[in-house]
Amino acid sequence: MDVLASFRLDGRVAFVSGGGGAIGSAIAVALGSAGARVAVADIDQAHAEAAAEKVRTAGAECLALSGDITRESEAQRIVDAIVERYGHLDIVVNAVGGGAGKVLFDAQEYPRDAWDWIMELNLRSTLIATQAAVREMVKAGKGGRVINISSVRATLGINAGYSAYVAAKGAISSLTRQWATEWAKHGITVNAIAPTFVDTPQVAMLLGDPAFKAGLVNRVPLGRVGETDDLVGAVVFFASASSSFVTGQILGIDGGLTATQ
Ligand SMILES: NC(=O)c1ccc[n+]([C@@H]2O[C@H](COP(=O)([O-])OP(=O)(O)OC[C@H]3O[C@@H](n4cnc5c(N)ncnc54)[C@H](O)[C@@H]3O)[C@@H](O)[C@H]2O)c1
Repeated sequence: MDVLASFRLDGRVAFVSGGGGAIGSAIAVALGSAGARVAVADIDQAHAEAAAEKVRTAGAECLALSGDITRESEAQRIVDAIVERYGHLDIVVNAVGGGAGKVLFDAQEYPRDAWDWIMELNLRSTLIATQAAVREMVKAGKGGRVINISSVRATLGINAGYSAYVAAKGAISSLTRQWATEWAKHGITVNAIAPTFVDTPQVAMLLGDPAFKAGLVNRVPLGRVGETDDLVGAVVFFASASSSFVTGQILGIDGGLTATQ
């Protein structure tokens, strides 16, 4: 067995939902570098175009698409456009999400509109993009890969007004196991990464607070927050033949944070 070749994605087509974002665009570049043809889809067209340009610079084909992934019709349109362009779809990565730092409320007062927004952004986006992609994979009958982005917040509470986000990420981890169980018969594996704080614009305000950052970093055995490049190797692993017998797993990428709890 050529172990390095088993990590290659030549001939595969990858759809990165939220691929215009900080983490999504790093993942899109990594999948392209590993040989996949990539489609990035984002509600922000300029972000999608910029990410696609980075993937092309890395030497891969990339399609930039825009749309609201929380809407079934738009997710379907995006998947149809990918299949029309590339002929098939093998990998979906769900990188729409976040928002927690913008709606911090005490748990007993957590407002319904903020709750619904976080659920839509994180959980519904993951559900809708995955359903559209997996319907296509099941129809084609050649298996596939679903990769979700959960968070250490799926398992660890945080004393900072995060009720809706922890609930959404907990649900994403549960769905990862549920989908893995249901879709194994179609040759589709489903796994997730669960990062701690990653240095991105989403969390810039929180990480910009020296007391918050010091408290966080002090609890991380490897002594720092994550970088987007810390995440991409695991995604390529889950996307590739090297993880053929791995499904329903949630891989902490957290510098050892959850190992201490
Ligand atoms: N940044 C972190 O510290 C961190 C840590 C753990 C997990 N995560 C998770 O990683 C994922 C990506 O986070 P990020 O930091 O890259 O965020 P980001 O905001 O940079 O990226 C999210 C992207 O999704 C797009 N988007 C938002 N709503 C959309 C919609 N309805 N349809 C289509 N696109 C939409 C945005 O335009 C953006 O480009 C999220 O699920 C987040 O919860 C982030």
